[in-house]
Amino acid sequence: MRFVFLAKLALLFALTSANVLAQDTAVTDAAVTDAAVTDAAVNTTVDVSDPKSVSPNINRRFLDPQMDVQEWVERFEVESREVYHARDAILRGLNLKPGERVADIGAGTGFYSLLMADAVGPKGWTFAVEISPKFVAYLSGMFEGRDVNNVTTVMCDENSICLPPNSIDAAFICDVYHHFEYPAETMTSMFHALESGGRVAVVDFERVAGLSSEWTMGHVRAGKQTVIDEIQAVGFEFVAERDIPGFKDNYYIEFRKP
Ligand SMILES: C[S@@+](CC[C@H](N)C(=O)[O-])C[C@H]1O[C@@H](n2cnc3c(N)ncnc32)[C@H](O)[C@@H]1O
Repeated sequence: MRFVFLAKLALLFALTSANVLAQDTAVTDAAVTDAAVTDAAVNTTVDVSDPKSVSPNINRRFLDPQMDVQEWVERFEVESREVYHARDAILRGLNLKPGERVADIGAGTGFYSLLMADAVGPKGWTFAVEISPKFVAYLSGMFEGRDVNNVTTVMCDENSICLPPNSIDAAFICDVYHHFEYPAETMTSMFHALESGGRVAVVDFERVAGLSSEWTMGHVRAGKQTVIDEIQAVGFEFVAERDIPGFKDNYYIEFRKP
């Protein structure tokens, strides 16, 4: 009995040490980039990953009921973040027109959704789509508080953006594609939600072995060409890559539903 108890104790110690090690590694990585800071807050104790997911557990921080949204506002909405600093240039790439319907997929703290709502105007509509219950609650309150009347917050699934067929003219995926656990299913749902001729903009991290940081290589599943191939495989046409002034770590690519 005593041996079993000691063996269990040893196992518990080994598991606890492994978790501490994982967290320590993340804390070290956190010094590398702003985004990596987020890994320091990872809850490593429960693994609920699905083996079919291409990036198991990548969204655990956003699905954590204890997530502190304000912390993310401070991480996402800072000028030192490329995709925040270049937000106006990035959005110009999507060329939104008054009256259009656009979806901000993985809206996070919603700063892009606000810019989109402004760009499509009172006759247009913006969908702020999220899988994170905490972001969904925050977004709804934020739009209401600011009296923004042309945005709907949508709580979606991990394998679907949960918008009806032909309901949008454009979709925007910024710093989110590498968070898709089921990219083929999610992109297929986007294909159906878009009108013919509808466009998709993807902004994500360059991932180039030997050039990208260790954090990027570990956190971002696929490089640009793989992303292009995957999105084309769903039926989208690749349109172009756009140069965004100030981009060093990210790229902007655009697709079209035929
Ligand atoms: C790194 S954040 C980027 C947030 C925002 N787009 C920005 O650039 O500030 C990634 C976001 O994608 C969301 N997300 C992850 N997988 C998703 C999915 N399958 N569908 C919708 N949102 C998703 C997460 O909850 C998180 O808010």
